[in-house]
Amino acid sequence: MTDTSAALWEQFEQLEFPALAALFAAPDRLARYSTTLGLPGGAIRFDWSKTHLYPAAEAILTRLADVQQFTEKRRQLIDGEPINNTEGRAAEHTAQRGVGNAASVVEAEALQARMEALVEAIHEGLFGEVRSLIHIGIGGSALGPALAIDALTHDGARVAVHVVSNIDGCALETACRACDPATTMIAIASKTFTTTETMTNAASALDWLREGGVEDPYGRVVALTAAPEKAVEWGVDDTRVLPFAESVGGRYSLWSSIGFPIALALGYAGFAEFLAGAKAMDLHFIETPLAGNVVVRAAFADLIYTQALGCQSRAVFAYDQRLALFPDYLQQLEMESNGKSVTADGQPLNRPSAPVTWGGVGTDAQHAVFQLLHQGTHLIPVDFLAVKIPGHDLDPVHHQILLSNCFAQGAALMAGAAADDAARSYPGNRPSATMLADDLNPATLGALIAFHEHRVFVSAMMLGINPFDQFGVELGKKIAKQIDSGGGEGFDPSTEALLAAAGIGA
Ligand code: F6P
Repeated sequence: MTDTSAALWEQFEQLEFPALAALFAAPDRLARYSTTLGLPGGAIRFDWSKTHLYPAAEAILTRLADVQQFTEKRRQLIDGEPINNTEGRAAEHTAQRGVGNAASVVEAEALQARMEALVEAIHEGLFGEVRSLIHIGIGGSALGPALAIDALTHDGARVAVHVVSNIDGCALETACRACDPATTMIAIASKTFTTTETMTNAASALDWLREGGVEDPYGRVVALTAAPEKAVEWGVDDTRVLPFAESVGGRYSLWSSIGFPIALALGYAGFAEFLAGAKAMDLHFIETPLAGNVVVRAAFADLIYTQALGCQSRAVFAYDQRLALFPDYLQQLEMESNGKSVTADGQPLNRPSAPVTWGGVGTDAQHAVFQLLHQGTHLIPVDFLAVKIPGHDLDPVHHQILLSNCFAQGAALMAGAAADDAARSYPGNRPSATMLADDLNPATLGALIAFHEHRVFVSAMMLGINPFDQFGVELGKKIAKQIDSGGGEGFDPSTEALLAAAGIGA
């Protein structure tokens, strides 16, 4: 009988998943499900052995990958074919790091050279003394830069970057209070250059410069966008518009000119290392057979939890303060990419799509939410992220306690513990995966982010959905615009009452 995806999913759902402890009876389990990848900035160990992955589950998912034409889809992604079929375009984030369609790679390199020149001009003082950059953007135009800068500048940045995303004026005001208009530049980061929050914040930032005595406020603005003509129309001089290709998706855009604040904070060489780390992961993803491919393995484990074991969420805990923003970044990557209920060809999905991604930082989270992970009624797969070399110079005991807690949590979730008293018993058999990087630097961070981008792609291809559109964000924006333009009438009684109570549209 030929395999069909429906039949394979059915087999998958009916599969028995042995307890984790039982799976460890296989002598090769640790070797089979943990891999240390040598990468430009140091190795990363990927340990998926404490998940319910096992050969019978992998065998079905490998057949499903075949039916779903996964390797062909991956080729289409990398070759710059229109894999984003609903919007009729390619998804060329890998071309930004030198992997992909030759013409797109050349174009990305030329645009990056332009960005490098501007970064160097600022560092060399061509714009006078520049101590701060207020980077204004939202969603993919903010989350990636915020993560990278927070993760990589613990020891200081060449220019202090303040990322402002929220329309709530408190966000911009806080950034402005930390800066001196005389030594501050503004980056307006928006793929479309139309996003309400970003354009409103940009106008207010310009006022702040003007009111702060800056004679030519527009002369302090850099635009990062795939719509350069709109930036010029807004008033940014063409020489300070850093374009990127329309085929780079918003939540995949930190590798393009949206990464300008990263390059300004680290120096361009640091940004180049960030790209190199991501490229190494791209090559692993493209060249490694499915069985040993760390990205595919992670996505297969994700599918066990969402598709066979009924998990509606997954949690990610960074046991490194520098990675505190990683869960926020992943939320957009996973939930905006794969939170869909139709397939790429418009049919009902008929099965769960992305889990709700959430998380936090260890050890803080242990004292807040881990109770539910250990003893709650939900089964929540957990990812732990940790780094061998500490990011600080304090007593090494800090790092030892941090890492021992991280590993203790994974062990406890899996082993559980029996007690006479039910309230004190831990059921165990709760899965976790661990990523342990030798060091945290631009290259290893780049590799970790690229790993997650591809992991999301694999899940999407297995489910047959398009991870590169996001139509679900439009309706709310449209209604807010209607209200703001005075046309917001005829809502439900609750919304009408809220508007009236807030004095909006009255
Ligand atoms: O509303 C969602 C979204 O379109 C994201 O996909 C995107 O990252 C964000 O808004 C910001 O968009 P832009 O970069 O065009 O301002």
